[in-house]
Amino acid sequence: MSAGPGAVGRSHYCGGVAESLIGQEVTLCGWVDRRRDHGGVIFIDLRDREGIVQVVFDPDCGEPFAAADRVRPEYVLRLTGRVRARTPQTVNPDMATGAVEVYGQTLSILNSAETPPFQLDEHTRVGEEVRLHHRYLDLRRVEMQRNLRLRARVSSALRRFLDGEGFIDVETPILTRATPEGARDYLVPSRTHPGKFFALPQSPQLFKQLLMVGGLDRYYQVARCFRDEDLRADRQPEFTQVDIEASFVSEADLTEITERMVRGLFAEVLGVELGEFPRMTYAEAMARYGSDKPDLRIPLQLVDIKDLMAGVEFKVFAAPAADPDGRVTALRLPGGGALTRKQIDDYTAFVARYGARGLAYIKVNDRTDLEEGLQSPIVKVLPTEVRRAILERVGAENGDLIFFGADKARVVAESLGALRCRLGADLDLYERPWAPLWVIDFPMFERDTGGRWTPLHHPFTAPSLEVEALRADPGAALSRAYDMVLNGTELGGGSVRIHRPDMQAAVFEILGIGPEEQREKFGFLLDALKYGCPPHAGIAFGLDRLVMLMLGAGSIRDVIAFPKTQSAQCLLTDAPGAVGAEPLRELHIALRPAQN
Ligand code: AMO
Ligand code: AMP
Repeated sequence: MSAGPGAVGRSHYCGGVAESLIGQEVTLCGWVDRRRDHGGVIFIDLRDREGIVQVVFDPDCGEPFAAADRVRPEYVLRLTGRVRARTPQTVNPDMATGAVEVYGQTLSILNSAETPPFQLDEHTRVGEEVRLHHRYLDLRRVEMQRNLRLRARVSSALRRFLDGEGFIDVETPILTRATPEGARDYLVPSRTHPGKFFALPQSPQLFKQLLMVGGLDRYYQVARCFRDEDLRADRQPEFTQVDIEASFVSEADLTEITERMVRGLFAEVLGVELGEFPRMTYAEAMARYGSDKPDLRIPLQLVDIKDLMAGVEFKVFAAPAADPDGRVTALRLPGGGALTRKQIDDYTAFVARYGARGLAYIKVNDRTDLEEGLQSPIVKVLPTEVRRAILERVGAENGDLIFFGADKARVVAESLGALRCRLGADLDLYERPWAPLWVIDFPMFERDTGGRWTPLHHPFTAPSLEVEALRADPGAALSRAYDMVLNGTELGGGSVRIHRPDMQAAVFEILGIGPEEQREKFGFLLDALKYGCPPHAGIAFGLDRLVMLMLGAGSIRDVIAFPKTQSAQCLLTDAPGAVGAEPLRELHIALRPAQN
């Protein structure tokens, strides 16, 4: 890295000290990665955001040597020296700058550092808690630097694309009213309106729709969203969406433009050609993959055998086969006959987490011998012709293992869907590195545990039916929603929106939101729809998830500079924190004693 933008105070970045600079004098700034004393000669590995270079101080150089002797890990230095080639024996091929070193001439210690709580190259030895507590140190690690820089490139590339396509970047409020996206709201009490609260946005959904009513025509925002929900490896309570909305467009227009955006992004940043994204209906995704975000890198598929089980005596299969909400499904694992008993037991415990009450299986030793050639805890209870029909339907070969799930359709989809992904990961069944697709034709509503209708997407999504038909049979309605899925992760979701007040009111009603509540919560939206709302559609991508996937990172926390823990806490600042009596009084809040 030569002097240039960012090189203020230095002539080069440490990571940019290359053989082309041999003989030149350089000024470097950075942190002491390591310091070694080799029989009177001191070696300092100096680190900055571009990498590490070795600097040598020998006793002949006087005062700088004495200073070099005092430095410790994470001290902050500025030094000058001459670049020279290393001797062939000391070349370090593992280091980008390993062919050269800097022969130190001056050294100033800009700041000292206490012994850090963990050595950066041994970060895995300490728990993530320690790293998050001292995140500023953790951020000095090469991986974190790489992750945040890739994130910046992704966000910049997406902005450039959207700017180029005529989308206008508009900021929407953070202090607002609830925007239902299925999670709990983070609330902010109002000082000036006793007993009232702002909600932080779960997404800019309603404002972006109002921008369409406002005639902006094409909007985007890299927007922070807040959701108080159970956290997982790919969820944070505050996260970033690349949020998009456009007027006078159909689902075909919207998916075309955003598919082009993501394809361009992968080509530009990773040099990966994703190709055209296939489209799959929700029904097909659930039937074949047990998931509405199927990981198509894995070739395994679920095969329904409910019809084959109608008459069998084995209750475990016969009961769900007779239940209209039941499902009986097989999952063939080619070569799975080699799995050990212990592995199968582990998978049985794994599917139990998704509510499965067991994991029946058949090992196909010899598919021509339906009596002795099948090894299984259930084969004895299945008539021979049923065994034959199962083997045929799943296309079993000798050496395969067939897993079975029998339960309510939801339990079977979730458990075998998860098992499919788990087998893919455990046995490395991936056929290609990237498998994007669109999932379309979602049901408009599903019933929650209390039997009430809830939206699969959000209540502003247009159904593919007119008002009367929708009211008549909400359960049969499909929505005009689409999700972009990559490698089994939902990258983005969107829909064509409702743009007529009568349809919006009908959907609210089906969701059990009566006229009064509609006025109170969404009056502004219903009003806006009355004043010439254009037809419009949009989508939002999870930027954190996108970056996580592009990096192959194991956790969403690895792509966020200052993330929160699984229990929605910031360990660095110790937020959320207690609040004194005075601010609480001003906010008209009295705390109840904590209940245990
Ligand atoms: P949705 O709720 O599907 O849609 O969110 C869009 C995308 O945001 C990401 N995402 C998250 N990422 C990290 N942590 C979370 N807690 C989290 N929740 C969601 C996902 C998801 O695909 N307003 C609609 C979009 C629209 O209709 O235009 C919405 O928010 O990648
Ligand atoms: P059981 O009759 O409970 O001893 O179960 C016989 C076999 O069926 C065992 O291998 C169980 O793991 C399996 N099994 C039990 N319940 C289910 C289920 N709901 N779905 C799939 N397999 C099951």
